[in-house]
Amino acid sequence: MNDNILLIGSGAREHAIAMAINRSHTPSELFCMASNLNPGITSLCKELIVDDFNDPDIVVSYAKNHKIGFAIIGPENPLERGIADTLSNSNINVIGPKKNLAQIETSKGFARKLLNKHGIPGAPKFKIFSSMSGVGDFLDELGENYVVKFDGLAGGKGVKVSGDHLQSHTEALDHCLQLVKDGSKFVIEEKFIGQEFSLMSFSDGKTLKHMPTVQDHKRAFVGDTGPNTGGMGTYSDHNHSLPFLISSDIEEAQYINEATARALKVEFGEGYKGILYGGFMATAKGVKLIEYNARFGDPEAMNVLSILETDFVKICQAIATERLHTIEVSFKKQATVCKYAVPNGYPETPVKGKPIDVSGINDKNHLFYASVDIVNETLIEAGSRTAAVVGIADTIEKAEKIAENEISKIKGPLFHRKDIGTKTLLQKYIRQMERIR
Ligand code: AMP
Ligand code: GLY
Repeated sequence: MNDNILLIGSGAREHAIAMAINRSHTPSELFCMASNLNPGITSLCKELIVDDFNDPDIVVSYAKNHKIGFAIIGPENPLERGIADTLSNSNINVIGPKKNLAQIETSKGFARKLLNKHGIPGAPKFKIFSSMSGVGDFLDELGENYVVKFDGLAGGKGVKVSGDHLQSHTEALDHCLQLVKDGSKFVIEEKFIGQEFSLMSFSDGKTLKHMPTVQDHKRAFVGDTGPNTGGMGTYSDHNHSLPFLISSDIEEAQYINEATARALKVEFGEGYKGILYGGFMATAKGVKLIEYNARFGDPEAMNVLSILETDFVKICQAIATERLHTIEVSFKKQATVCKYAVPNGYPETPVKGKPIDVSGINDKNHLFYASVDIVNETLIEAGSRTAAVVGIADTIEKAEKIAENEISKIKGPLFHRKDIGTKTLLQKYIRQMERIR
C-alpha cells in the first residue's frame, strides 16, 4: 500500500483524524480535500485543497494523481454519493463504507428494515410511509410516544419527537402531510425513554473493535433545552463507560453493532469497512437503537481519538486489508470532555464571517478547528460549529474543568454549553436512569 493518505472533510472530526494520523509511527504523507481552510489540518498535511469532495470524479482524479494508498472519509455526504465505490473501483483503499452499505445511515427506513429482517434486538415498532394512508392509525397505536423521521440525510434536523417538537397527533399529522407534499418518505416509530449514548466500532467487514462509549448533547442550550444541533459536546469516563450505564448496556450495544455488521455482509455480499457508529438509548427494557451513522461522530471522534493508544494508521491499514483481528486496539484509561464553541444564533441564524481569536488557549494540541476560514490572514467563523476543545483527566469532573477553562478562552461572537460534563448534569442523568430502571 502506498504511504499517502487522503482525508476527506475539514471539520473538527477531520482535524482529530489528522492529529491521530500525525501521531502515528507508520510513515505517511497526508493530503486533505476540504470544504474550508481549516488551519489545524493545514498544519498537519502536505497539501489541503478546497474542492467538491462529493464529486466522485474530482476525488478519484486527485487520489490517483497523488498516489493515495488509502482514503478516509469523514462526513456522511460523500458516502451517500458513493465516493467509496468509485475510489475502490480505482483500486484505492477506503476507510468508509460503499454507498449500499452506507444506507445504514443514509436511509432510516433501510436501517430499521435490516434490524427486523435479521432479528437484531433493539428496534422500535415502526412503519415507513410515503402517503398519509395509515398514518393516523399508526399514531393511534403508538399513543403519546412517537417519533417522525424524514427518511434521508438531514444533518440531525429531520427528526420530530413527541412531547419535544410535536405536541399532539394533529401537529404530527400536519408535519406528515407536509412531508408527503414535499414528496418525502418518512418513518414513524415508537419513542424510547432513557439516556442516549454512542458506541463506535472499527469494522473491516469481518471483525469489529469497539471504542469507548460517549454521550453527546444535541440540544443547543444549558439543561438540554433549545433546538437540536450537530452536537454541542461529549464526554466519556475513565473506564470507557458512562456514569448511568451498567455493563450489560455496553455488551448489548456491542452485540447490536456486531450483528448489524454481519447482517450488512449477508445483504450485500461484502463487508462494511470503516466506522460503524450506533446511536443507542439505555432504557428500562435494555438498550435500543436510535440510529446508525456510517462514520466517526462529531464530536465523539475528539473524545476517542484523543485517548487512542494504538497507531491509527495501523488500524486503517488493518481495516483495508481485513486484518483487524490481528491487532489489539486500546485506549488510555482516562476521562474526556469535549466542548464546542458555536456562533451566536447557531443553529438557526448563526452569525458568519466574524473574526475569532484562539490565542488564549493553553494547550493547542487539544484544540480542534471546525467551521472556520482564513480571510485576509484572519481566522473567521464560517457559520456552523466553530471549534472544540478536549479536556483529559482521570475523572470527568477534572476533564470538564480543563475543557471549560479552555473553551472560554476563545474570543468572538460565540457561545458554548457550560453544563456538559458537570456533576450537576451527570447527576440528573444518573437519577433519571435510576427512576426508570
Ligand atoms: P436521529 O437523527 O435518528 O439520531 O434522531 C435525532 C434525535 O432524535 C436523537 O438523538 C434522539 O434524541 C431523538 N430520537 C430519534 N429516534 C428516537 C426514538 N425512537 N425515541 C426517542 N428519541 C428518538
Ligand atoms: N454526534 C452526532 C453525530 O456525529 O452525528
